[in-house]
Amino acid sequence: MEKTYYITTLGCQMNEHDSEIMAGMLGEMGYTESSVRNAADVILINTCSVRDNADKRFFGILGQLKKIKMENPHKVVGVCGCMMQQQHVIDSLKAKYPWVDLVFGTHNIHELPELLEKILSEREKLVAVWEGSETIVEGLPANRKYKHTAYVTIMYGCNNFCTYCIVPYTRGRERSRKPEAILEEVRNLVKDGVLEITLLGQNVNSYQGIGSDGNMTDFSALVRALNDIEGLARIRFMTSHPKDLSEELIRAYAECEKLCPHIHLPVQSGSSRILEKMNRKYTREEYLLLVEKLKKAVPDIAITTDIIVGFPGETEEDFAETLSLVEEVGYDSAFTFLYSIRKGTPAEKYEDQIPEDIKHERFDRLVELVNCISAEKNQKETGKVREVLVEGGSKTNKNALSGRTGGHKLVNFTGDSSLIGHIVDVRITESNTFSLIGEIEE
Ligand code: SAH
Ligand code: SF4
Ligand code: F3S
Repeated sequence: MEKTYYITTLGCQMNEHDSEIMAGMLGEMGYTESSVRNAADVILINTCSVRDNADKRFFGILGQLKKIKMENPHKVVGVCGCMMQQQHVIDSLKAKYPWVDLVFGTHNIHELPELLEKILSEREKLVAVWEGSETIVEGLPANRKYKHTAYVTIMYGCNNFCTYCIVPYTRGRERSRKPEAILEEVRNLVKDGVLEITLLGQNVNSYQGIGSDGNMTDFSALVRALNDIEGLARIRFMTSHPKDLSEELIRAYAECEKLCPHIHLPVQSGSSRILEKMNRKYTREEYLLLVEKLKKAVPDIAITTDIIVGFPGETEEDFAETLSLVEEVGYDSAFTFLYSIRKGTPAEKYEDQIPEDIKHERFDRLVELVNCISAEKNQKETGKVREVLVEGGSKTNKNALSGRTGGHKLVNFTGDSSLIGHIVDVRITESNTFSLIGEIEE
């Protein structure tokens, strides 16, 4: 009988890529992917802890799984990811969900095959967190979700300790992969048909890879080296912290033709006072200066961001500064978040927490402005011809294709499914708030 697995991923791109690696390891163990969670022999949930709603989704799924596990005790239910790096979560799992077979953390992913074998042979429950040191394990397989675009982790962890954020506690300290390892991975991906890579790290601008010659490669040098790889068409990256964005990287944008004209540059707030309380280490003015330099170096650059509404102590004046910054920058799109208290972070202890109704009211105003600007930006795309990496059709209509422009805008158009995985010229004919419609240029 074929053994199957199913992985639910609740977090960011790093989390998604961790799931691809777990899928790769399970594949090497002879497992195949099940299309239905409840039918799988091994069910994994890769969790995220960045906001309260991610925690809630996890406990919701666990609730659903209890019945399945009770009826099918031979199934293995495993939980992993960022939530598992927190002691209070482990404690509540042990107390309230004792039927979970396996709990492992972000540092223990590479141990999955051993842990699973042990559970299957000894039928015991296992918890494996924090045990792995913060070293980098190279050479793990990955079962990637897409064929032509791939995530490549260049660094792990975060040293920034923004006062609202849990990530430094769940992912540990910053550590960079060796440049040679990254280059080799990308060359192999290109051999397998990958055209576009997205370099991943919590703060890619602070990448410092030590090569085998002992020399340090910084992020802009890494981008330049990747730009020389024949057959690779596009380079993207996520995420960059404004405080570490260097002049060299801005120059690389202007000089590396494969670096896509898009930057995700989380601002979090438009008020320097709040930015200081967030420990972001830049001011509104410094951020705006960076944006100005980027726009000058790459006139067509698309800029996207993350914004938190209702950080403790945020006044109406602070919030008005966020609104005015959004207008001034003119973001192509923005992820907006309600501030969510995270256990163990400094901001948890701040006394001036903002009432929920005020947070929601500000959030709605911000979303309205952000969407209005996105729609305007997309409107400006109409009539232009953009290079689009065709990512896939829809299940119901094979000729309905979609893909992204260099500026990361989603375009829907009609074409033959043989175009999937190719870069084609598309003329933008219509625009919406979140996507574009186009026609292939003959
Ligand atoms: N390393 C990335 C962000 C990772 S988390 C960076 O610094 O840009 C992604 C986004 O989640 C953050 O940019 C922030 O906007 C949001 N976020 C993080 N913690 C949050 C919290 N406690 N409440 C609300 N939003 C939060
Ligand atoms: Fe969190 Fe700040 Fe690190 Fe991003 S840079 S992961 S927001 S602590
Ligand atoms: Fe979530 Fe962990 Fe990513 S907390 S956002 S999955 S780094």
